[in-house]
Amino acid sequence: MCGIYGFIGGGKVEELINGLKKLEYRGYDSAGIAFAKNGELFVEKHTGKVDQLREHLNSDLSKRINSGIAHTRWASHGIPNDLNAHPQMDCQHKIAVVHNGIIENYEQLKETLKAEGHVFVSQTDTEVVAHLVEKYFNGDLLDAVRKAILDLDGTYAIGVLHADVKDEIIFARRKSPLVVTADGKRSYCASDVTPLISSSRDVVFLEDGQLARLVAGEYEIFESSGKSVAKTIQHIEWDEKAAEKGGYKHFMIKEIHEEPRVISDAITGRISEKKVVLKELKGWDNYLKNVNKINVIACGTSYHAGLIFKYFFESLRPFNVEVEVSSEYRYRNVLIDEHTLTIAISQSGETADTLESVGLVKSRGGKVLAISNVVGSTLTRESEKTVYINAGPEISVASTKAYIGQLTVLYLLALYIDELFGGNHPDIVESLQKLPEIADNFIISSVEAIKEVASKYVGYENFMYIGRGINYPSALEGALKLKEISYTNAVGYQAGELKHGPIALLDEKFPVMAVAVNDQLYNKMMSNILETKARNAHVVAVLTEGDLNLKESINDAIFLPKLPSYLYPFLVGTAFQLFAYHVADARDLNIDMPRNLAKSVTIE
Ligand code: G6P
Repeated sequence: MCGIYGFIGGGKVEELINGLKKLEYRGYDSAGIAFAKNGELFVEKHTGKVDQLREHLNSDLSKRINSGIAHTRWASHGIPNDLNAHPQMDCQHKIAVVHNGIIENYEQLKETLKAEGHVFVSQTDTEVVAHLVEKYFNGDLLDAVRKAILDLDGTYAIGVLHADVKDEIIFARRKSPLVVTADGKRSYCASDVTPLISSSRDVVFLEDGQLARLVAGEYEIFESSGKSVAKTIQHIEWDEKAAEKGGYKHFMIKEIHEEPRVISDAITGRISEKKVVLKELKGWDNYLKNVNKINVIACGTSYHAGLIFKYFFESLRPFNVEVEVSSEYRYRNVLIDEHTLTIAISQSGETADTLESVGLVKSRGGKVLAISNVVGSTLTRESEKTVYINAGPEISVASTKAYIGQLTVLYLLALYIDELFGGNHPDIVESLQKLPEIADNFIISSVEAIKEVASKYVGYENFMYIGRGINYPSALEGALKLKEISYTNAVGYQAGELKHGPIALLDEKFPVMAVAVNDQLYNKMMSNILETKARNAHVVAVLTEGDLNLKESINDAIFLPKLPSYLYPFLVGTAFQLFAYHVADARDLNIDMPRNLAKSVTIE
């Protein structure tokens, strides 16, 4: 996730670097700063780490400046390079803009601005903001930024500095956080509290649609109408380490709480009039219309997301979808023709086995579509097309929010391909649009209940996760999460397979995690739960709220809201992540960095 830091009221250039250092934990691929002196704008920005930016600045570090803005970028539009790094500038090089988020309508805005004579140099969506502020600037920076944001669709936290406006800097937010504070002499704004708390712990979290005007030692908050609003000051008790994690104990739990936003960011700009629009697949419509087989390749959690894609796509129409782990696929003698689509899923875009499989597909003349979270990663360079999940960097090794982001994008992809085949599912599209709010409510209302359930199972050494249909991969993923972070033996099975062997394992020391939501396989799942109960296993059932049918047969329940059946994998995924997290936390394990695991597995 990108990071923003800025101050006004006097200081050294180096302080911008120090602010960025405190945002490094968020992950980024490039960094930059801007400040003004005597009406001239100075911008320094580079791919790579903040320390490299520090080296580039060298003797400028000790320069006195009145104000400055700084940014760490995690690429979403345009590969990581110096030109795409922030700050972005206007035509006159007077205005510098830093931005977190995604401007949905940047292409239209860019076309209009170009027609008006503006010249663009980067591939970013952010650059349109600099040109819009230039267009509207008439001596009043706040007013220009206010007008500019009225033109924007999408999500943003932006910071704007104008070389001719010495005594103020402007920030604005919609759906992407910004925090403001002042210490009497200077005032500051950042994308989270981490770089601020050494200056002041009394902060204001901007609300959606608000702008902040920072002057030396003071700041004012405005609505987008321009009306000034009262400040709601909050006192932050966290130390810096806790602040990095947003006050959460681990990145994993923080990232789980980010999932509703991840779903919404993955959808942003990809739905229009109840249809899915994937601009990334431009030029592929004719090819996709003639596809008769989809091969999905991935590893680990990404593989489970791929399996869910298969079930979801098949629910839209009968189709030949095959999902395979990359380390197996790459050695197979696969048949690939011009009617085959290969989807390679990799959060990091660097997983060696997946890259090798992509090589195999390409050597046989196949086309590869990548689903990744890392812009410019090897997978995206090796694939013809990429749909990014835009989840922001995931810091905890065990994948949580990236998995939910993958599911979201894979659902969009399935709907998009299905639309090309003549399908039309406005109801599903609409339900996906509602999902961020549903997921948010679910997490808020269930986190304590799931912790309570998990606390009863901390002492067990073995778990069996079972599910059917689209919730079978959720069982695999639930078991994987528990293994990864709590070092507990957990196996995932199709519930129907129990009787063919795994049931022999069950006794009172081998709990069963069963997904029995209200879908067409509910009755079958009930029978499976009764089978496990008959072997004295303790059962934790994931049920739909209000379902009391199994009350006497299970030991514990995790309730999900009533949803269309295809949406359950999202919440089941989150519920199992929370369960695994709380088991591991109760055992006081190194959750964010489990032993023997790596975030990106670049060896075969
Ligand atoms: C590693 C990680 C897993 C991840 C898998 C695939 O094993 O520990 O969490 O699911 O790689 O990673 P990818 O980046 O290709 O999605």
